[in-house]
Amino acid sequence: MKGSSTSGYAIHIGDTVLPNGLMLAPMAGVTDGPFRSVCARCGADYTVTEMISAKALWYHDKKTALLARITEAHMPCAVQIFGSEPEIMAYAAQVLSSPETPCEKMPAAIDINMGCPMPKIVNNGEGAALMRQPPLAGRIIEAVRKATSLPVTVKIRAGWDCDHKNCVEIAQIAASLGVACVTVHGRTRSQMYAPGVDLSCIRAVRERIDVRIPVIGNGDIFCAEDAQRMRRETGCDGVMIARGAYGNPWIFSEIRAAMMGVPFAVPSTEERIETALAQIRELVLLRGEFAGIREGRKHLAWYTKGLAGAASLRARIMAARSLDEVTALLYTLAEKNGALKIHEEETEV
Ligand SMILES: Cc1cc2nc3c(=O)[nH]c(=O)nc-3n(C[C@H](O)[C@H](O)[C@H](O)COP(=O)(O)O)c2cc1C
Repeated sequence: MKGSSTSGYAIHIGDTVLPNGLMLAPMAGVTDGPFRSVCARCGADYTVTEMISAKALWYHDKKTALLARITEAHMPCAVQIFGSEPEIMAYAAQVLSSPETPCEKMPAAIDINMGCPMPKIVNNGEGAALMRQPPLAGRIIEAVRKATSLPVTVKIRAGWDCDHKNCVEIAQIAASLGVACVTVHGRTRSQMYAPGVDLSCIRAVRERIDVRIPVIGNGDIFCAEDAQRMRRETGCDGVMIARGAYGNPWIFSEIRAAMMGVPFAVPSTEERIETALAQIRELVLLRGEFAGIREGRKHLAWYTKGLAGAASLRARIMAARSLDEVTALLYTLAEKNGALKIHEEETEV
């Protein structure tokens, strides 16, 4: 679904052009390679890996390196790192952008996580905890910039809590150190994922840093209208979508259609089920059947939500252990929803 047509919304991150400024957000446990490929096919201009522990790379953890794997199908893709020590963050950036990168394909950028709110992360001084330590945040950005020739980007929150909304300060530090892009999730660390996103802080960042640095608005984009509101009310240059892409990678084509003023064709049940199946097959190829099926279950639940009979099949999908079992359950669902084409095509061979 990607096209060369531009909408007047193009942004640049280093040499990478995002024709419509549409990004898939990093999500630990969700934005694995197969899901990034699907989103790229559905119109995301740019994807980001799950967050990767700089310390784990430092200790040569093989599983962590696997998370950083990027293939042609998810390009352009940035790799996101988290950590609290400038030297270790610099090491991670250098390894990830070296010719022997575990990413396999060179990432489009190194993104620094300054927004993760999870206690096990912030209690180590990582993720959103960096927003409480602007000088340290600056030293990390500086060290990472020096360690790589790739563009360096940051993803921040509004601040730590309502009394400490310092996203403008952090964005200004990042801008002065030459980052290529700043993404702002308009909530504080204390707010985690509720209440609604505060667009004024994203607008403040856009107004207060160099206009040549793209500012990406993030938070609560679940449909094209949300994306348009984000752009309208913040002046942001691009939008980043996380939960809105759960089981709905078509959100990117929906937003793009709205930007271009053309109608959007809602995906059929066949397309939803075929997409889910293709994604789970790719996950199994990548991770093996045991891990692939386990990791894919949440995606299956999201893709099938709202289909007739999905609720009663959910427990069986969640308990499924093999690709054959998952395929059979999805065929049953397809039949229940009148999407017989998939079953007929598959049984013809
Ligand atoms: C399951 C999950 C995992 C996430 N993992 C990451 C991550 O690895 N790195 C990161 O910067 N943000 C992460 N986030 C935050 C999202 O990127 C995003 O900032 C947040 O969900 C708000 O966007 P949304 O309202 O579109 O969901 C995660 C969010 C969720 C729901």
